[in-house]
Amino acid sequence: MKPEVISTPEAMRARSAAWRKNGERIGFVPTMGYLHEGHLSLIREARRHSTRCVVSIYVNPTQFAPGEDLDKYPRDFERDLQLCAEEGVQAVFFPDDTMMYPEGYQTYVYNASLSGLLCGQSRPTHFKGVTTIVAKLFNIVQPDVAVFGQKDAQQALIIRNMVRDLHFPIEIIVAPIVRESDGLAMSSRNRYLTAEQRRQALALYQSIRQTETEWQNGRRDIAGLTRNIRTHIEAHPACRVDYIAFVDARTLQPATESSREILLALAVYVGSTRLIDNTLLTR
Ligand code: PAJ
Repeated sequence: MKPEVISTPEAMRARSAAWRKNGERIGFVPTMGYLHEGHLSLIREARRHSTRCVVSIYVNPTQFAPGEDLDKYPRDFERDLQLCAEEGVQAVFFPDDTMMYPEGYQTYVYNASLSGLLCGQSRPTHFKGVTTIVAKLFNIVQPDVAVFGQKDAQQALIIRNMVRDLHFPIEIIVAPIVRESDGLAMSSRNRYLTAEQRRQALALYQSIRQTETEWQNGRRDIAGLTRNIRTHIEAHPACRVDYIAFVDARTLQPATESSREILLALAVYVGSTRLIDNTLLTR
């Protein structure tokens, strides 16, 4: 069955309120659309933890800086709707900018510490846009549980912190990275890549795999591991490193002896497309 398409906050809240009155448990997956297997895995996870599933499709302008890809961000609403139908989604929340940011809009939510690190260095306003829209979506959809992808590890951590700090009564689940068969992390932005860039983009995953293997073999010199990753990526002429970071998975500060879980996070420009990937390394 096609999901119900809801485009106003009032109608969405009314739908959720009616479900809640019937004792339904609401699962929520926020997206910017152009759905791929990564998004679908989150929907399946949300459905395992709920009896009604809402997906939002909204390309949120406040998380794009001027000059970024807001205007060319890929969109295919009919296909997304079909995929949501196949996955058993009951409602798709599909607002437009006048609904989300009407004239006179002036209130933002931001994380005062994590949002300046890693991706926040090259995208200083990005996470403020993300936390603002996700807080708004949480207030509109009022889910019991929401699912985010580990692909955007910093985003997921910032959302977890927001939910804790602002007392949202929502359980946050973070689902694993879904990859193409050759290992490239799925992303709506992969479609910007030419065939040659697509081949070279594999350098991210290759460096992650190589580092995981060396880590499993007991290698711990982060400076040397970082150098090897940079050398491997820079051997690909289409690739330019934005950052290579080994950070504490909870604080995103440089990993130390006491970090229980270390996040290896990469951001690399392949041509003009910025791709990210990551893995968790345990001591
Ligand atoms: P978007 O990039 O569409 O991603 C929506 C969700 O899908 C995010 O939680 C993201 O981490 C997850 N995701 C993307 N690629 C994935 C992959 N390969 N494997 C697993 N999960 C994946 O992230 C956003 O939209 C926006 O910032 C949003 C949270 C919707 C706020 O506007």
